[in-house]
Amino acid sequence: MGRFQVIVLLAILSTAFAKLVVDVAPETSQPYVLPNLKGAAVDFGGLILRTLVANSTSSGSFSLLGVHSGPSGLNLIHSHKEVEAFYTLKGSVQVFHNADQGRQMSANDFVFLAPGNNHTYRPNDLDFQLTLAMAPGGIDDFFAATGIPYTSSAPFNPDDHSQLNVTKVLGLMPKYNIVPAPTNKINLDWINGTTEDGLDTWHSANQSLPSDPSEAYFISSNRGPKYLVRDSGTVVAQLASAQQTQEKLTVATITLRNNGESTDVHVFDMDQAFQITEGQLTLEIEDEVVQLIFGDLAFIPRGTCFRYWSEVGFTKFINWSAGFGLADSLIEDAEPWQHAVWPA
Ligand SMILES: *[C@@H]1O[C@H](CO)[C@@H](O)[C@H](O)[C@H]1NC(C)=O
Ligand SMILES: *[C@@H]1O[C@H](CO)[C@@H](O)[C@H](O)[C@H]1NC(C)=O
Ligand SMILES: *[C@@H]1O[C@H](CO)[C@@H](O)[C@H](O)[C@H]1NC(C)=O
Ligand SMILES: *[C@@H]1O[C@H](CO)[C@@H](O)[C@H](O)[C@H]1NC(C)=O
Ligand SMILES: *[C@@H]1O[C@H](CO)[C@@H](O)[C@H](O)[C@H]1NC(C)=O
Ligand SMILES: *[C@@H]1O[C@H](CO)[C@@H](O)[C@H](O)[C@H]1NC(C)=O
Repeated sequence: MGRFQVIVLLAILSTAFAKLVVDVAPETSQPYVLPNLKGAAVDFGGLILRTLVANSTSSGSFSLLGVHSGPSGLNLIHSHKEVEAFYTLKGSVQVFHNADQGRQMSANDFVFLAPGNNHTYRPNDLDFQLTLAMAPGGIDDFFAATGIPYTSSAPFNPDDHSQLNVTKVLGLMPKYNIVPAPTNKINLDWINGTTEDGLDTWHSANQSLPSDPSEAYFISSNRGPKYLVRDSGTVVAQLASAQQTQEKLTVATITLRNNGESTDVHVFDMDQAFQITEGQLTLEIEDEVVQLIFGDLAFIPRGTCFRYWSEVGFTKFINWSAGFGLADSLIEDAEPWQHAVWPA
């Protein structure tokens, strides 16, 4: 091979590999960074759903979707066998669980919806964003089949008055094992953003994760179990562990201070995705360094070596993992902690 060919080959290889930041989430398992508001999107009756991690990318273990909307009507009441969890990034949404429970979720609130229970939701803020996970994955295919392609970079279209084709949606639900329950009652008797069962705790006191995996639960911002890795000042807040999800999904937030560049190289045998909620995360994957800010998502397939740190004073990100992941391994070296911030 001549020198010219070598240079061309190196150029091709470097473009082939220096491609962490993408506009659309790849459908195969590979590391990538998807900036906020990027990704394949559909309009589902005014809700804009962006695929952050496709079912195929995680080999069927989970799907992650970004949901954006303005105030909207009550969605269809339904249930399914998958575990569902969501984390509100901004704005607010009312979540209804079975006939009795409800919570108004705002930024950094989390809900875990156990399999088989009826639930629905109603976005009620002018600028609402959440990240939804379903495990096992596949819900991205349902929305692709029922929604209308959406190509704008606007979070959602406030001028959109399109109606969901309910006949089509109901017709496709069985294929994706979604069971509609349109006549199921919901509890609208709320005070201070919650039904009666949450009055003592919602946004005001500790909340714990139930040991029974058939129980749904809500964790308001910073009120769940927390752990401190004292040496690094890292605070890990557990939102769902393998116990609640029957090993299908784990969710935690990880809060970092500016510690200088980390030399710790991590590798996990589970796929995981990080999404930034505050500050800026610096992530190095396979010799490429990327800075992530609010809403940006990194997908790190099992077996990928990576390093991460914060170059700003306060960085927080959500860690979604197919099983035992970063949060669990950090918790092993951590102490129980009652605060959302590290000590001085
Ligand atoms: C999700 O991915 C898995 C593994 O690739 C596949 O078996 C399953 O059929 C997919 N689900 C849907 C709804 O496409
Ligand atoms: C709604 O979907 C059904 C079933 O796919 C289809 O027959 C019907 O034409 C659609 N209606 C509208 C208004 O698009
Ligand atoms: C869900 O709703 C359906 C239809 O109303 C009902 O038959 C079923 O018992 C409900 N499931 C739960 C767990 O409440
Ligand atoms: C609702 O919140 C207000 C303000 O915090 C408080 O004074 C009131 O006691 C709460 N209501 C109930 C029923 O807890
Ligand atoms: C939360 O729980 C911890 C111990 O589990 C306790 O020390 C703390 O006082 C509790 N905080 C509130 C607001 O109840
Ligand atoms: C992400 O969560 C998974 C599962 O809890 C955990 O094993 C992994 O260590 C977490 N990642 C980080 C960077 O904390």
